[in-house]
Amino acid sequence: MAPLISLADIPTVSRLYQLKKLIPASSSSNIPSQTLNDIISLIRSDITKLQVDGIVNAANQSLLGGGGVDGAIHRAAGPELLDECEDLDGCDIGDAKTTAAYELPCKNVIHTVGPIYHKEKRTDPARPEILLRSCYRRSLEEAVEYNVKSIAFAAISTGVYGYPSGKAALAAADEVRKFLEAPGNKGKLERVIFCNFEQKDENAYEDVIPQIFPPTEQDLSAIE
Ligand code: APR
Repeated sequence: MAPLISLADIPTVSRLYQLKKLIPASSSSNIPSQTLNDIISLIRSDITKLQVDGIVNAANQSLLGGGGVDGAIHRAAGPELLDECEDLDGCDIGDAKTTAAYELPCKNVIHTVGPIYHKEKRTDPARPEILLRSCYRRSLEEAVEYNVKSIAFAAISTGVYGYPSGKAALAAADEVRKFLEAPGNKGKLERVIFCNFEQKDENAYEDVIPQIFPPTEQDLSAIE
């Protein structure tokens, strides 16, 4: 049984630069922000082990469970999670709904339904990204509404739903930055964690994070 992971053990982007676990990108069009680099965090873990306020589940429109991270979350939460989900009347693609977490070590589960990549792409090439960005935005809106201060995202749609990991990471990280920089959201979230499970997603975020959240002078000066 893998141990639980406390918030203090989940490194911020700033810390990852200091530890040289993140390498600055050759170029970034984003302004370095210490505030953001102290909020954004990255970890490779089973999301059901994180002792954070909220975890984001990659659900389907029924909200009645499934495989992948959905299955892992329902198994760890216990049957009461399904009982609560049954009363939610499903969830639209790109939307998010919040429940309690029951036997999980976190307080809430935010269920979001990602796009099925190739299906949505056939309708309109821009549609997968629009829907995926909506998943991250709506999940963060739910976190603010439920006073969830630390939120961990699984890599939405990058498993069964087939979203390419690199494209998904870029859209997710950029959408999270936009949300955190919106005037009304300042100070609303203390930690936004990208929790990856497979190597392909960890690699994608290690490449994307330095583009979206470049290091500050302070991050670089503290390199050990
Ligand atoms: N912790 C964190 N991440 C996990 C875990 C876990 N325990 N298990 C799987 N993942 C990762 C996968 O590696 C992938 O990167 O979650 C990401 C999303 O993959 P899926 O769980 O397959 O979700 P998604 O691609 O969004 O497809 C959703 O799959 O499980 C069904 O009911 C779900 O129908 C829905 C569909």
